[in-house]
Amino acid sequence: MSGLADKALAYARELFGGEMSGHDFYHTERVYKTALRLAEAEGADAEIVALAAILHDADDHKLSPETCETKANARRFLTENGVESAKIERIITIIGEVSFSVGKTPTSIESACVQDADRLDAMGAVGVARAFAFGGSRNRPIYDPEGSGGSTIGHFYDKLLQLKGLMNTAAAKLEAEKRDAFLRAFLDEFYAEWNGGTE
Ligand code: ADP
Ligand code: NI
Repeated sequence: MSGLADKALAYARELFGGEMSGHDFYHTERVYKTALRLAEAEGADAEIVALAAILHDADDHKLSPETCETKANARRFLTENGVESAKIERIITIIGEVSFSVGKTPTSIESACVQDADRLDAMGAVGVARAFAFGGSRNRPIYDPEGSGGSTIGHFYDKLLQLKGLMNTAAAKLEAEKRDAFLRAFLDEFYAEWNGGTE
């Protein structure tokens, strides 16, 4: 099994190539590691969690819009590597439930682990870095004091600060507390500096 996980990691590395606006290979690698840690705490099936985590963005709508409905990239990888079809369906279901924007409730403990791991990666210091990398890639302002929307600081309120309340597993809830506190501390410091002081 770890042989297949390694092969899937190599496939993801190749697939993401130079993509750096939030869905780079290292995001996948972090989600994989975090999801496995959650799977262990929850007694979830580690093989299913590993493969779903590694392949969760292989058919992302921003990266591969032509396969995002069918999940053709993930399906092809799993089929070519001899994964049995019942397992493939479990993995594809999880991938379809991961995304924040899709907003689905996980239908298995394995899916809960992958969804939580993906959301944890949008929080904390890494989440801050990813948000500004994404905003920069879309030429968005870091902050818009007039509050007309579309800034990266605005994205904290639209999404990042909600994530703590959306965790499924106990271990992820605990980790989310810490990462959410970091987001709030970051915002406090950001506004203090924006307003000319350091306090
Ligand atoms: P998902 O895969 O859950 O749909 P996204 O593709 O929306 O997630 O997000 C990928 C990364 O980019 C996350 O870290 C997210 O916070 C960040 N991101 C998405 N939209 C924005 C935005 N409008 N401004 C800043 N960061 C964003
Ligand atoms: Ni992701």
